[in-house]
Order: sequence, then C-alpha cells, then structure tokens
Amino acid sequence: MSARSEHNADTARAAEWIATSLRTAGLETEVIPTSGHPIVLGEWRRAGPDRPTVLVYGHYDVQPPEPLDLWTSPPFEPTARDGKIFARGAVDDKGQVFLHVKALEAHLRVRGRLPVNVIVLIEGEEEVGSDHLGDFVRANTERLRCEAVVISDSSMFAPGVPSILSSLRGLTYFELVVDGPASDLHSGMYGGAVVNPATALAHIIASFHDEDGHVAVPGFYDSVRQPDPDVVRQIRALDFNEERFRREVGAPALGGEARYSTLERMWLRPTCEINGLLSGYTGEGAKTVLPARAMAKVSCRLVPDQDPRAIEKLVEAHVGRVAPRGVRATVRHLHGGRPWRTDLSGLIYDAARRALAAAFHRDPVVAGEGGSIPVVADFADALRAPVLLMGFGLPGENAHAPDEWMSVENFELGMRAVATLWDTL
Ligand code: BES
Ligand code: MN
Ligand code: MN
Repeated sequence: MSARSEHNADTARAAEWIATSLRTAGLETEVIPTSGHPIVLGEWRRAGPDRPTVLVYGHYDVQPPEPLDLWTSPPFEPTARDGKIFARGAVDDKGQVFLHVKALEAHLRVRGRLPVNVIVLIEGEEEVGSDHLGDFVRANTERLRCEAVVISDSSMFAPGVPSILSSLRGLTYFELVVDGPASDLHSGMYGGAVVNPATALAHIIASFHDEDGHVAVPGFYDSVRQPDPDVVRQIRALDFNEERFRREVGAPALGGEARYSTLERMWLRPTCEINGLLSGYTGEGAKTVLPARAMAKVSCRLVPDQDPRAIEKLVEAHVGRVAPRGVRATVRHLHGGRPWRTDLSGLIYDAARRALAAAFHRDPVVAGEGGSIPVVADFADALRAPVLLMGFGLPGENAHAPDEWMSVENFELGMRAVATLWDTL
C-alpha cells in the first residue's frame, strides 16, 4: 500500500518478492532504493545486439483495501472463486506483472533463452503518482534504452476482446481546503453572521461545471488537442451499450459533458471530479455546529496537451476568484501525471496485434482509457520509445474497490499473448 507509510515494511517486502520471482525466472535482478518506495529492475540481455530490446513496466504497489467488511475473502489472501482470483492487486497490477514474469520464465525454461533482450521495471509508487520514477528514467536513459515499452496495467474492452490502448488520460490531484473561523462555532449563536466554510466549499465546487457539464474553469480547454478522427471513428464503432453500462455501474442515469458519448467522455475528454468531501459533524444524530474548516479532494483527468501543473494553476486562480469573502481557500497539490496518446503505428503494435490474435483467436480492438499511468509520458519522451498498453483486466474487475479480481482465463491467455509477442517481435 504505497500511500500508507505504516505499511512501508510490507511494501518493501512486496518489492523483494517480485525481485525474487524475476531472479527465479532467470533474470539478473536489482532492488534500487529511492527516497520513496524501491524500484525493481530485472534484465536479460543475451539475445544479442541484433535483437530488439523491450522494457516491461508494471507496479507492485496497490491501493488501500478499505472498506474491509465489503470483501468476501481477505484482501491479502488471494482466493480463487468462479474462475477468478480475488485479492487486492489481483489485476492492478500484481497479477498482470506476474503473468509477464511467468511468460519470461516459460521461454527461459523451455528454450534456455529469450528471443529479445528484456528489461523489466516494476515500481512501487504508481498508485501515488510515480513521483520518483520520472527522475530515475531520465537519469538512466542509456540503461533503459529500448525499442518498445510494454505495459499490462489496463483492461480489455470486453471478455474475449483483446485490446490495445491508444490513449491514457493525465491527472492533476489536489486538496481544496476552506478555512473560516478559528474553531467550530455554535450554529445557532453564530450562524448567519459568520461565513460557513462548508457552504463556501459547496459554492466553489459547484462553480467547477456549467449546466452542460463542461468544466467552467476559465482556460481549462485551451490546450486540448483534438483526437485523431480515425481513433474517434474506431471508438464509435465499438460494440458499446450505454444502458448495459449504466446497469453495470448501478447509477440511476448516466451524465456528463453535453454532446459527447459515454466512451468519449471517459476516454477523450478532460474532467474535474470531487473524490472526497469532509466538513463539520457527520456522526449519528444532530449536532448544531458551524464548522471551522471544509475540505475536498479533487482530481482533473487531462487529455493531450493539457499540462497538470498549468491546469492546477488555472483551478487555483478560479478558486481565488469565486471563494466568498470571509473564508480562506487554499489549493494543495498532491500528485499528477501527463496524458498520453499514440497513433499505434510501428513494429511493436503490429507484433501485438498478431500475438493477441493468436492467443485470443480474434483481432484486438483499439480502445482508449480514462485512467492514468503517470510514467507513460516520461517513457515516451525520455526513451523515445513507443509504448504498448496491452492489458488483461476485464470490465467489473473492481480495481481500487472491494473484491478486486482477475480472470484466471485471462491470466493464461495474457501469458500466451506476451510469450508470443516476444517471438513475433
Ligand atoms: N492501472 C491503473 C490505471 C488504469 C486503469 C489504466 C485502467 C488503464 C486502465 C493505475 O494503477 C491507476 O490506478 N492509476 C491511477 C493513477 C494515480 C493514482 C496517479 C489513476 O488512474 O487514478
Ligand atoms: Mn495499475
Ligand atoms: Mn491503480
């Protein structure tokens, strides 16, 4: 759990565990400390200089498992039920990292060698923004030089439908704190005369969107680059049923930016979302109190070419303009990551299409993704290598939620696809 320092020893143990499995598979392995969680690096470079070098990236850290009482079996005791492995990290991303390790191990056990040179980089800070990995990548471009980066940390569009991602959204995540009076006040004695921080916060966050669901922060869309019409066409052609999706998420109705479809809203458009809210009395019954402080956790998902810091500055300026007199509103940066987009042309994508088709007995689709993997843009820039995002999760897998699972069938087919990819390449 990279976010929780009380679990640092467990996180370090996870790093050692994955290092040991890489070593057992036959890779030279190193656990590299950072000022955060360690980076695990495995290498096998004996395919020869005429063979391509690939870099496999994944993360061994996970999101906290709470609420624990909603898990059917304990989050850190992997349990197989109904063709699924349930555990925190089953799909995001330990299971998907492990299928890569096992595919490499299979090659090395059966043939004593790999058809390509391989670098495996597994980090422990993805779920908290990969703060130290960007610097590591930039400082080690020679060692990490490769023809392609391959990542399995995403999902397939539907069961049986292998998927290659053409984009990831970026992210800026911040805390918005509204301070009012020096301490909580009696809401009868003072209410009406002192500006209420909870009401002020509600006013501020309500101003983040207009009636049409567009983000109303001035300048927010200025640097949005239009997506490739070809990708838009491919996304529109996907077999996606909005009503089925609505039932899956269990919401009374879907909603978002006017004039965009659900997939476009999730994959191609930037957003501003409240992730958490806290203020005043929330216990049983009533307590009459005017809270001294209110707080919101806010994330903006970003698309090319929005810059996380620049967007945060725009939000900060907007908050400064709309915050009512009588409170102090402050924006505190938590983490961020740049968006990423590819045109899916080149050797690695051709090889992936063939390997996925061989393993799944059908051609892959091109999908987008609303989530973020902060280091992907750094890989693309610093290593100048194409990034292949080929994940084996499935819709409904409960990533970041109770009862996270990975399909056993996909684990096996993913392993086959990856093993075949190295041959195809
Ligand atoms: N694997 C996910 C991101 C993801 C999800 C990519 C689905 C593609 C498909 C990753 O572990 C994740 O959760 N990222 C965070 C990043 C953040 C904490 C910096 C996210 O998107 O919220
Ligand atoms: Mn992940
Ligand atoms: Mn995640």
